[in-house]
Amino acid sequence: MCWLYPILHRNPASNLLVVEVAALTSADRVLDIGCGPGAAVRAAAPLVEEAVGADPSGRMLHLARRRSRGLPNVRYVQTPAHHLPFEDDLFTAVWTIHSMHHWGDEEGGISEARRVLASGGRFLVVEQIDPGKSWGVDEAGIHRITSMMRTAGFADVEWTKHRVGRADEAVIVGRG
Ligand SMILES: C[S@@+](CC[C@H](N)C(=O)[O-])C[C@H]1O[C@@H](n2cnc3c(N)ncnc32)[C@H](O)[C@@H]1O
Repeated sequence: MCWLYPILHRNPASNLLVVEVAALTSADRVLDIGCGPGAAVRAAAPLVEEAVGADPSGRMLHLARRRSRGLPNVRYVQTPAHHLPFEDDLFTAVWTIHSMHHWGDEEGGISEARRVLASGGRFLVVEQIDPGKSWGVDEAGIHRITSMMRTAGFADVEWTKHRVGRADEAVIVGRG
């Protein structure tokens, strides 16, 4: 599915949803883990100090960089979620959209998100609610993610359901 993703989802509403829920300000430094072609990074860029996309796929990052030309506060780094090459507490908002269900090491990725998130910052996980689990998570999957986030040290972990087009999206939020 993933090679078609950048063609079919050039500006997916779920990417705009996370930017809205994160309530960004000009002081924010944002990290998008599993950024794919970078739609959420570009949506955040005009609102924040810096927007960084991380993804292990060179092909996705090639598209992301091409589509982000001319945005001075955007950069991309090729890396998986469980190994984020950033210093502790660097970001004030970290998110991941439709990506966590691809991670081989979810606990490692969540722990890295916690490490690079500054105290008081927010971590948002967006996954499509799919009882068949081929594209996202079912309710048990949501509870598994909230539980891993609490174990990793996130506070005030809660999730909300959002109708986006014809899909239901789960947005799970925790505080650093
Ligand atoms: C369905 S795409 C979503 C892309 C983007 N977040 C969006 O919403 O447009 C899933 C992305 O997760 C990335 N991915 C796969 N394994 C990953 C991992 N271990 N860590 C971080 N990202 C990963 C893929 O390369 C791909 O870009």
